[in-house]
Amino acid sequence: MAILVTGGMGYIGSHTCLELLELGYEVVCIDNLSNSSPESIRRVEELTGKSVRAYIGDVRDEALLRQIFAENTIDCVIHFAGLKAVGESVSIPWKYYDNNLNSTLVLTKVMADVGVKRIIFSSSATVYAGDNQMPLREDSRTGGCTNPYGWTKYMTEQILSGMAFADRDWSVVLLRYFNPIGAHHSGRIGEDPQGIPNNLMPFITQVAVGRRERLNIFGNDYDTPDGTCIRDYIHVVDLAKGHVAAISYVMQNQGCEVFNLGTGQGTSVLEMVNTFMEATGVNVPYVFAGRRAGDLPVCYAGTDKSAQVLGWKAEKTLFDMCRDSWAWQSKNPMGYLEK
Ligand code: NAD
Ligand code: WQD
Repeated sequence: MAILVTGGMGYIGSHTCLELLELGYEVVCIDNLSNSSPESIRRVEELTGKSVRAYIGDVRDEALLRQIFAENTIDCVIHFAGLKAVGESVSIPWKYYDNNLNSTLVLTKVMADVGVKRIIFSSSATVYAGDNQMPLREDSRTGGCTNPYGWTKYMTEQILSGMAFADRDWSVVLLRYFNPIGAHHSGRIGEDPQGIPNNLMPFITQVAVGRRERLNIFGNDYDTPDGTCIRDYIHVVDLAKGHVAAISYVMQNQGCEVFNLGTGQGTSVLEMVNTFMEATGVNVPYVFAGRRAGDLPVCYAGTDKSAQVLGWKAEKTLFDMCRDSWAWQSKNPMGYLEK
């Protein structure tokens, strides 16, 4: 079976390509390298001893997509390609609406034309409204997004579910990721943010490796046990395995289903920093800074539906996540720049 992976050279895409290859799937990928390096897929090939058919190009390039579907017999698409920097989406909204919405529109247009109507989409916990009770369930309220990035995920969910409603040949799975961290245990592939990291774990690992002086913890006056925000961190390899489970589902069903991919466990920022230091033996200096605009105090997933319907559950611990993030960062202090 052949899977087209858009954004396959990125953080989650490269880990998913690796899992797919190890399970014997054929992998075709397209990536425009806007936030990645082809080195990631070269290393996936090295780790698995298998090859990926890689196209460098943009998912909005309709002619290229038609060429990819003509040259390969694709059974299903996993659509990771997208821009994901929340702050940048606030300053350059058009870029996010153009990239994230038009990539999906062009992709699904070509898919419909060639009769491949199975798609798994990278959505996000960010689509949930801020006033829900925890844990967030798939039927919790969505909308009221606080930034254009979040709206692109919300709108893409609407586009794909509307298509599946109108044409029952479509099979759509929307996966709402919580906070992916960690790396393949080899330390050969991992998250390689450009510039100053927005997210907690890459910031911690860059402090630990000496690229940054200290971590700013955004807020210690929240109504949580230690005053810092609580999130549901999930190991990227567990997340990749969630996509494998979703492939089985999407191949056997029609319509549109949404699943959370999280652990169901909440971890505070301070707990994360302390677990990182325990798992790695490396000190992470930090200071408390003011709250970051838009942060919710607490966010974690309900996991019953993905366990019951997909038969998938995250297995790795917070300790595993910290150890593996550090394996990647310590072996590749400057990310993929170091070959
Ligand atoms: P990433 O930036 O590492 O990967 C995205 C990949 O898509 C990159 O390799 C980039 O070059 C490529 N890309 C972007 N636009 C493209 C286009 N128009 N054509 C071709 N390639 C394009 O990000 P990631 O963390 O691996 O995230 C993958 C997906 O999961 C994204 O859609 C993201 O929004 C979503 N997601 C990520 C997180 C997270 O915290 N990492 C959480 C929830 C959802
Ligand atoms: C986690 C916690 C910060 C950095 C984001 C997106 C979301 C989704 C996942 C894509 C928060 C704190 C962080 C730092 C800190 N992405 N923090 N110092 O905000 O939960 O989710 O990534 O869909 O849409 O918003 O993740 O890693 O940025 O923050 O104290 O330098 O760490 O305040 O409490 P977030 P994060």
